[in-house]
Amino acid sequence: MTGEPGGDVIGTERLLLTPLRPEDADEMVEVLADPRLHEFIGGRPATLEELRERYALLATGSGRPDEVWRNWIVRRRADARPVGTVQATLVRRRGGWRATIAWVIGAAWQRQGFASEATVGLIGWLRRQRVRAVFAHIHPGHEASTRVAMRAGLAPTNAEVDGERVWRAELDDL
Ligand SMILES: CC(C)(COP(=O)(O)OP(=O)(O)OC[C@H]1O[C@@H](n2cnc3c(N)ncnc32)[C@H](O)[C@@H]1OP(=O)(O)O)[C@@H](O)C(=O)NCCC(=O)NCCS
Repeated sequence: MTGEPGGDVIGTERLLLTPLRPEDADEMVEVLADPRLHEFIGGRPATLEELRERYALLATGSGRPDEVWRNWIVRRRADARPVGTVQATLVRRRGGWRATIAWVIGAAWQRQGFASEATVGLIGWLRRQRVRAVFAHIHPGHEASTRVAMRAGLAPTNAEVDGERVWRAELDDL
């Protein structure tokens, strides 16, 4: 890949993943308000001001040509209601682009397969951008995220980062 991967809308059967805009913070603060979302990822729910600042920063990008931040709001296709986010941090290596991905679904919308569906859609998009390998860092006790990673075709590696297991998929193999 020569250029940097773009920020398209990604469609799946029940969801639309729309590129994150700073103004999405106003809708998302409530979706992300439950402290239980932080059980495995640390931290606490952001205030509206904090989320606006974070989304403005994310939308600005890394400022480096070899590192690209892509973030999407996960919306129900039927009514455009936001239910979560997915993100991909793309890094250019000698062999091509690699992505580290993460997912969050608001507490009220969990256990409906949304994280799995959004992640499969995201990985399909990454493959179309010719990203070669996808990584996710998952706490070993995080059953739901482990299931999401498995459904999306990732497999655990022996590597650990900050107490989290590194999962990986080679997109050429999927
Ligand atoms: C991880 C998370 C995104 C899963 O969202 P979700 O939309 O509920 O996930 P899905 O509905 O696609 O479920 C995936 C699998 O996990 C299982 N699952 C969901 N919630 C679970 C829970 N609390 N405990 C155990 N299993 C759970 C589902 O039954 C499903 O299993 P299956 O594949 O055998 O059918 C959500 O729990 C979350 O946002 N957690 C907080 C943020 C976080 O930790 N993100 C991970 C960063 S990588």
